[in-house]
Amino acid sequence: MKTYQRNAWYVAGFADEFAPGKLVARTLLDEKLVLFRTSEGGIAALADRCPHRFAPLSAGKVCDGGRSVECAYHGLRFGADGACVHNPQGDGRIPKAATVPARVARERDRLVWLWAGDPTRADESLIPDYSHVTSASEDATVRGYMPTACDYQLLVDNILDLTHADYLHAGTLGSGALTRCKPQVSDLGERSVGIAWISSGDLTPPAFDMHLREQGRPTDQWTEVIWTAPGCMQLNVGSTLLGEPRECGVDSLNLHLVTPETSRSCHYWFWTTRDFAVDPEANGHIRKLVEHAFSMQDKPMLEAQQRVIGDAEFVSLNPVLLPGDPGSMRVRRKLEQLIAQEQAG
Ligand code: FES
Ligand SMILES: [Fe+2]
Repeated sequence: MKTYQRNAWYVAGFADEFAPGKLVARTLLDEKLVLFRTSEGGIAALADRCPHRFAPLSAGKVCDGGRSVECAYHGLRFGADGACVHNPQGDGRIPKAATVPARVARERDRLVWLWAGDPTRADESLIPDYSHVTSASEDATVRGYMPTACDYQLLVDNILDLTHADYLHAGTLGSGALTRCKPQVSDLGERSVGIAWISSGDLTPPAFDMHLREQGRPTDQWTEVIWTAPGCMQLNVGSTLLGEPRECGVDSLNLHLVTPETSRSCHYWFWTTRDFAVDPEANGHIRKLVEHAFSMQDKPMLEAQQRVIGDAEFVSLNPVLLPGDPGSMRVRRKLEQLIAQEQAG
């Protein structure tokens, strides 16, 4: 089984997936969980396994207005902390062993976050602040979910190694500028790394070029990613006509949020926003473009890579390093260190 950083926040879903009264079954970091909105408006995350006959709790129902989940098999009820709160059988006595492991979950900025480790160490100040993205106008927002059959680290690499856009997304999101440009990698703290590709004089990718004041002209471009351990990335991409200030060009701010499902599959939530083409019709076109790039280009490539890699550890295969790779390799090393520190206690 893969070793994950446990004392860290992982995205568990968009907050609006967790409607009152609804049970969400989701596997996160190899754990089958059931999540639901509690009566207080919080989010409960319990092992999806009744301790009686091991029925999945997600087959049951939310009870007591969100105070508990009831097992569909024999009716035991469990509260948000995993303790059995009701036994309809016999005299109603609650057996001591009738508890379910519980994880800490929090809603923040329209996302639900899971602390995958020791609940006593859950530190809400470590949840990245993405409110400036999640509060953008709906007409400038494309967000979605893409399950992908690959190790989550391949998907993280995919965002940290954006030179792939010049090839995999040629004609829409790539123009060749990233491939020619040397990324600057910077340490942003114990759990964070920044990678920036800054170029001058190249054409910008077609998806941006069509929204500039003039088309087919050389530009200044910026592509800046901030990775926060273990799987969250904020990506700022934009361009402006050569020599003009950034504010005169087009700019987009995007979240790429990756959470392991199993060692060979992951959840990927994306949330893209921009300061141009802010209207419902343009948003529809951009949605098609983004969804096509992610689901018809990135996803098949990532899943094919995983099939080639199989069960081998990525680094054990001695991957060749290209000039675009220092960022993703720095992140892999940093995550390895974080996991090693955690294992050492
Ligand atoms: S299996 Fe859940 S109450 Fe029996
Ligand atoms: Fe891509």
